Amino acid sequence: MGVTLQMSEEKELSREEIERLQKEVRRLAEEKNAIILAHYYQRPEVQDIADFVGDSLELSRKAASTDADIIVFCGVRFMCETAKILSPRKKVLHPNPESGCPMADMITAEQVRKLREKHPDAEFVAYINTTAEVKAEVDLCVTSANAPRVIKKLSSKKIVFLPDQALGQWVAKQVPDKEFILWKGFCPPHFEFTAREVEKLKEQYPDAKVAVHPECHPKVIEMADFVGSTSQILKYATSVEAKKVIVITEVGLKYTLMKKNPNKEYIFPESMNYCGTVYCCTMKGITLPKVYETLRDETNEVLLPEEIIERARRPIERMLQLS
Ligand code: 13P
Ligand code: SF4
Repeated sequence: MGVTLQMSEEKELSREEIERLQKEVRRLAEEKNAIILAHYYQRPEVQDIADFVGDSLELSRKAASTDADIIVFCGVRFMCETAKILSPRKKVLHPNPESGCPMADMITAEQVRKLREKHPDAEFVAYINTTAEVKAEVDLCVTSANAPRVIKKLSSKKIVFLPDQALGQWVAKQVPDKEFILWKGFCPPHFEFTAREVEKLKEQYPDAKVAVHPECHPKVIEMADFVGSTSQILKYATSVEAKKVIVITEVGLKYTLMKKNPNKEYIFPESMNYCGTVYCCTMKGITLPKVYETLRDETNEVLLPEEIIERARRPIERMLQLS
């Protein structure tokens, strides 16, 4: 009889259906004074309906400055929470409440409190990829776009950095006068991509430059010509002299790279015959029908306790000031 494997409950959409839904979403956004924010790892058809596509830092800034009544956030949960913390009076909608970030869930507020007892003399720095409850416990937030720059400005000599060990090690190398205590969290898609796989790509494309996200394994970072956030990779890869760039980050970025500068070749691990690929399932959990239904019905509102919003806002605002 054969077997049918269904990857999701949603059927594939035809081009006409995609275009019809996109028009509807844009019409609803105008009617409801809603802004649609999307991360670069989102599906192309979702990026195309966004008012703004960016990295975590740029998206936080947009969420803080918008005068829209509704923010539809196409990204993972911690990004929606950050938007709610920075714009608490606005309605923030998350098209798929099940789309979390596995790394953000690798540390709890309780664990941070215990670490504080062990390191009372340290400043606590959290990657933006953390829950609102964890942010409420720390002194400063950073993103991959500003971490070394902002941490250099701190007066404290001892830093507890959480939860991303890869980003933490990369920052520690650039700030050698401080002691770093790192939490052992990681981003599964980035961290598990191996240096051997990068070597194979380099053998195949010897004249290509290598751009890497700092969530990658330190051995992968060592092989990079450039390390930076998604927006920083976008700038580097589209403007560097080399015609080919090997890009080690989530495949969603390829769409914007191609739009911004189609005259270069961007080599992502997914285009190769290797089993390794950098693909974030939870980012891809946001689909166009979900965006449409969420905005139409104003469901999936992101709600946080007032007290958490108040406490979590301080480290994020401090980051925005310092960067
Ligand atoms: P950026 O801030 O570089 O866009 O990264 C966000 C993220 O989750 C990367 O995995
Ligand atoms: Fe989290 Fe990694 Fe996905 Fe980014 S790519 S949202 S860090 S799991």
